Amino acid sequence: MIEFGEWQLRSLEPADAPSLARHANNRAIWRNVRDRFPHPYTLADAEAWIRHAMDQQPETIFAIASDTEAFGCIGFELQSDVHRRSAEVGYWLGEPFWGQGIATGALKTLTEYAFAEFGLVRLYAHVYEWNPASARVLEKAGFGYEGCLRKSVTKDGQTIDQWLYAMVRE
Ligand SMILES: CC(C)(COP(=O)(O)OP(=O)(O)OC[C@H]1O[C@@H](n2cnc3c(N)ncnc32)[C@H](O)[C@@H]1OP(=O)(O)O)[C@@H](O)C(=O)NCCC(=O)NCCS
Repeated sequence: MIEFGEWQLRSLEPADAPSLARHANNRAIWRNVRDRFPHPYTLADAEAWIRHAMDQQPETIFAIASDTEAFGCIGFELQSDVHRRSAEVGYWLGEPFWGQGIATGALKTLTEYAFAEFGLVRLYAHVYEWNPASARVLEKAGFGYEGCLRKSVTKDGQTIDQWLYAMVRE
């Protein structure tokens, strides 16, 4: 468990399923993540996600939590082959917790952990063109804008641009 301010990054546990499902069941979150993130988001979806996270060896997916509940997730996906020193980061927070700097704190914390423990030189993220809040989170956490992947995503009935952000550490 790593604390940042009054919040924590910690391992997901089976008991997190009800609070995670409650927060994840939100179209405003679904619209900004991949379609593999279900909508509606059920208790069974949360249980399956927690099992998946707990199966990761080494651990790469974490709960964003208070003392009383998990209300978001953050993680990274290690790449392979010639991309093996890169990882893609992703995150979401329950809407009542937006606008308090929590995603920025969680991303900074995760970034330190990922670079320190995994021999990575590059962390990156893709942001949909209608999500300036996430672009701002990446900028505040020290990621740089690398470019626009034009019409690279089809989401919620529209084919849109993605912005690519990355942090590189030798
Ligand atoms: C994106 C998300 C993670 C942000 O979390 P958060 O904890 O509210 O983020 P922070 O408070 O750390 O920072 C948000 C920043 O975006 C800014 N912001 C919010 N809405 C904005 C908008 N419409 N346009 C421009 N900036 C905006 C805020 O002002 C803040 O910047 P500031 O500190 O300079 O004022 C959260 O909204 C979320 O979970 N969204 C749905 C899932 C998602 O988008 N995941 C990321 C996919 S790439």
